[in-house]
Amino acid sequence: MNKKSKSAAIKRSGFGDEFVWGVSTSALQTEGASHADGKGPSIWDEFAKGKKNILNNDSPEIACDFYTKYKEDIALVKMLGIPNFRFSLSWSRILPDGIGTINKKGIEFYHKVIDTCIESGIEPWITLYHWDLPETLQQKGGWTNREIINWFEHYVEVCIKEFKSKVKNWMVLNEPMVFTGAGYFLGVHAPGKKGIGSFLSAMHHAVLCQAIGLRTIKKMQPDAIVGTTYSCSFITPQSDSERDKQAAKRIDALLNRSFIEPSLGLGYPMETLPFLKKVEKYIKPGDEELMRAEFDFIGIQNYTREVVAYNFFIPFLKAKLIPADKRKVFHTQMDWEVYPEAIYQMVKKFSKYKGVKKIFITENGASFPDEIIDGIITDTARENFLKSYLEQVLKAKQEELKIKGYFVWSLTDNFEWAEGYHQRFGLIHIDFNTQQRTIKKSGYWYKDFLAG
Ligand code: FCB
Repeated sequence: MNKKSKSAAIKRSGFGDEFVWGVSTSALQTEGASHADGKGPSIWDEFAKGKKNILNNDSPEIACDFYTKYKEDIALVKMLGIPNFRFSLSWSRILPDGIGTINKKGIEFYHKVIDTCIESGIEPWITLYHWDLPETLQQKGGWTNREIINWFEHYVEVCIKEFKSKVKNWMVLNEPMVFTGAGYFLGVHAPGKKGIGSFLSAMHHAVLCQAIGLRTIKKMQPDAIVGTTYSCSFITPQSDSERDKQAAKRIDALLNRSFIEPSLGLGYPMETLPFLKKVEKYIKPGDEELMRAEFDFIGIQNYTREVVAYNFFIPFLKAKLIPADKRKVFHTQMDWEVYPEAIYQMVKKFSKYKGVKKIFITENGASFPDEIIDGIITDTARENFLKSYLEQVLKAKQEELKIKGYFVWSLTDNFEWAEGYHQRFGLIHIDFNTQQRTIKKSGYWYKDFLAG
């Protein structure tokens, strides 16, 4: 009861006029048209061919067909009154082989998307890399090959040259911890590589690319506003025991600190997480400087918290995450605990870094099994999720932490990586058979909230 009346009170005006509101998507998860108009394959197109890599053998081939439906979708962003739209560019749509020949049709597509946003009064926020590496580059080792710093720099140059007159806000990478951890350590995301060597080399090269991307943008477009985005989870130990507390610190170092700290000149958090010392093998003279970056902002993406226990059998980490369903706590369909305070704690944590100037929540949202009844989707759980997390964002804002904006993940249901189409995060429902869009109750709630 108390919680409900508190939720009802949350208002846009409480965040002030300058606060940035938006919604996020990514290329691979929405565009489809995997092979259309000269696009080259990405590692996710390739990964989806492998049996059992993706739930129900789903593929990103069609996804939300944003490639042909972008006008309709941007019209929905406008109709919902969302002033900022974060999306990503597909590297292999622009450079089918990752380097070399530019695909004019790919460039044209993004010009049309950007123009449609601008004509609709919507500010584009572009992520340069949201996990869909060109497959040709993966054939050469992908993120494990140090050459990627040249490939990436070239890709960024092509994008900035093309779009700098229209786009002000850039994000270099999306969640480097996740694409290197899940893709090169656990093998559960594309390109499905496993092992400490591939992870640490991918990690170091991603850290270098973060900084190189930023510098390239600033050099070519000095008035650009540049950041990068980090996944983060509020980490708590399962008990008060020293072993659990130390285990929680190691997970925190890995999940929350290992990408931002080297960029801020603080180095990899090796004292807390000794196995990170092995990354030294990939560090070349001069890298410490090369890794440093001065971002105008960082994006943080928070969904949940993790509870951690000491575990002798887990290599390198000696720590394990206790799944939410085992803990019998309220969780989303991803088995991510609904824990609103996590977002506040994360804003607080990242605000403490001296080198961080501004923070935007560039993703927050929830997957719940939606039901369409007579054409209506009453996704009250998602609406409550958003409200309860926003209350915590407001608390952070009131405490004058560095929080400056918030983007919901996601505009539409989409291809949720290894979970395929099973997990739905959208404010807008998609019928993947007909491509019909239906605004969910949470979408109307966000509209009303934004309208004040
Ligand atoms: C984040 C990803 C995003 C989406 C959400 C649910 O880790 O950046 O693409 O999959 O999770």
